[in-house]
Order: sequence, then structure tokens, then C-alpha cells
Amino acid sequence: MSDTNDLGISRRGVLASGAATAVIAAAPGAAATADPGRAAPPTMAVSFKVNGEAHALTVDTRTTLLDALREHLHLTGTKKGCDHGQCGACTVLVNGTRINSCLSLALQHEGDEVTTIEGLGTPDRLHPMQAAFVKHDGYQCGYCTPGQICSAVAMLDEIKRGVPSHVQSDVTARPSLTNAELRERMSGNICRCGAYSNIAEAITEVAGAGA
Ligand code: FES
Ligand code: FES
Repeated sequence: MSDTNDLGISRRGVLASGAATAVIAAAPGAAATADPGRAAPPTMAVSFKVNGEAHALTVDTRTTLLDALREHLHLTGTKKGCDHGQCGACTVLVNGTRINSCLSLALQHEGDEVTTIEGLGTPDRLHPMQAAFVKHDGYQCGYCTPGQICSAVAMLDEIKRGVPSHVQSDVTARPSLTNAELRERMSGNICRCGAYSNIAEAITEVAGAGA
């Protein structure tokens, strides 16, 4: 088999000519350094409170709330699992309601009050849900735990407020924390270690205590 194509150019010749170097420089990965004139991404200012403290940030408009918390405010208690709304590791409370912070842009939260796991309790004064997770061993690796705890706190509040769920046969009836309700309402929080039975025990204890 010949090493030369129809144009009479050999592979060895292309490499030796430096043409390959030009091709590599034009590759997508090299564009950032090869194109100093490339426009910077647009940024915008946003202000919100996190755990009671006011913050004013200027962020790339594509920044998620999760990245604003972790990368800009260094609140790394909130975890990034899937980064597209499937695992619940990034759950935080916004104005008291649980959300997946990876699915929400930071700019959407002007004036909001965000609570992360760091704001629920402290090592000396644990939130009852944090204490119950410790007592019932509601974790193994702990990666999903901040999201599980934030979600559980908001979930009990939803039940208190009468927010219906998917498993209620009568959505106008007042919900209570049955086994099915607990599992349905926590189904957005995945635990890869499978600590579900201990998580359920912890939540049930806190619900029973009326916290
Ligand atoms: S990181 Fe947000 S849902 Fe998985
Ligand atoms: S404790 Fe490891 S993922 Fe839940």
C-alpha cells in the first residue's frame, strides 16, 4: 500500500511540513489560547441572602445557584452529584421551599433567602433533623446527606402546610407522613449507599417529635 495519496502528498510529508501543527492549533481545545480577541462571557450582578448573610455577586450569566454557592461563596456543604436534576444532592431551601440548586440560575434569586446545610444547624447546635440522621446512621459516605436533610426538613413543612403528593388518593385531604408518603416525597433524593431505611427512621422520628 502506497504512503502517497492522489495529490502526491505523503503522510510523512504533511507531518514534516508543519501543516499538522497548524491543524492542531485550530482544534477546539486550543481555541481559547489561540484567540485572545474572543469575547468574555456576559456577567451580571445578583444579591441574595445565604444563611441569613447578605451577598452581592457578579457572575457569568450561566452560573447555577449550586455553583454560586460552592465556587463563589465556598459553601461546599451543598453537593454536586449529577448536575442535572436527577439526584437531589444539591437540594437547598429558597424562601423555605426545597429546590435542586443545579437546575436554577443564580440570577433567578435576586432578593431571595437561601438556606444551605451550613445554615440549618452548627456542630454544637444541630438541627433536629441533623441530630436524627446522626442517631439513626442515616448515611454511609455522606455525599447525599446535606441534600437529604434539607429535603427532609422542607418535606415535613410541606406536609404541615397540606401540600398534596402523588400518592394521595384524595388530593384535597390533609396529608400525613405514611410510609408511602415519606418514600414518594423523598424520591428525588438518591442515596447511592442505600441508607434509605435509616434515613426513613430519622425522618420519622423528627416527624413524630413535631419538629
Ligand atoms: S446535582 Fe442537582 S440534582 Fe443532582
Ligand atoms: S450516604 Fe453515600 S450516597 Fe447516601
